[in-house]
Amino acid sequence: MPRLIRPIREMQRAADTLRREGKRIALVPTMGALHAGHLSLIRLAVFHGDVVVVSIFVNPAQFGPREDFERYPRDLPGDFAEATGAGAEIIFAPEAAEMYPENFATSVTVESLGGILEGKSRPGHFRGVTTVVMKLFSIVRPHAAIFGQKDAQQVAVIRRMVSDLNIGIDIVVGQTVREPDGLAMSSRNSYLSAEERRQAPALHRALTLAGESIRAGERDAERIRRLLEASVSSEPSARVEYCSVADAETLRELTAVTPGTTVLVSAAVWFGSTRLIDNVLIEG
Ligand code: PAJ
Repeated sequence: MPRLIRPIREMQRAADTLRREGKRIALVPTMGALHAGHLSLIRLAVFHGDVVVVSIFVNPAQFGPREDFERYPRDLPGDFAEATGAGAEIIFAPEAAEMYPENFATSVTVESLGGILEGKSRPGHFRGVTTVVMKLFSIVRPHAAIFGQKDAQQVAVIRRMVSDLNIGIDIVVGQTVREPDGLAMSSRNSYLSAEERRQAPALHRALTLAGESIRAGERDAERIRRLLEASVSSEPSARVEYCSVADAETLRELTAVTPGTTVLVSAAVWFGSTRLIDNVLIEG
């Protein structure tokens, strides 16, 4: 029977029991408001563990002071039904007051990787992510953890943390799930007006165009960035925050695309007051 666990101590006890029984635990960390992208990660987790734990926690530490923490969509009963339908056995939804008690003072920071791209636009964001993910790892003690390629930099930062701190958890990455028109599924898509929603697929179209130009032999990274920016800017409500053509592992901006490197083409674009991110991976 699937169960909802809220107290941290109870989750730790459940994890201890599972480990003693020799079960492999696969964790899917989420902030809830589950959509088809999350559900595909849960289905993938089923292949990587005997028991799938989905954590649901809207982590205040990763939101900036002017960001959408307050209005981030929340629906625990709906999420419980969706997650268990996709194969989750335990839904772990801790309380913020227990995750961050008054004298909380410790954080995990991945230097360099956490300060560029998303980290530059959203100072402190990745420190919030790595700290909460480290806490979830300590509480759930999974053998594997599943993350989405949609947040490519998050994957790179977590891989770095797992390697640097010898955490010994397998990091599994699931592909980005998209709407039929290419828009990457995101809880934040619900903020878009009808007109902005109509324009938003331009982000994925532009990334695809940039990727195709690399496949067709374009090597000049700056020209690829300009192509990406011009393409997405053709929509009147789009405002580009950054366009990046970077080495997929180090996230360093490239000047030239050299054969053999995997290139991460990514962008953050505002449609009205909603900030969307997306990316494609291309073998250079
Ligand atoms: P959240 O935005 O809820 O995303 C949870 C997981 O779902 C992440 O690994 C994310 O990359 C993945 N995901 C989101 N949209 C997706 C899509 N369209 N296709 C496939 N996977 C998708 O990312 C977070 O929460 C938080 O930062 C978290 C890791 C839970 C730490 O608080």
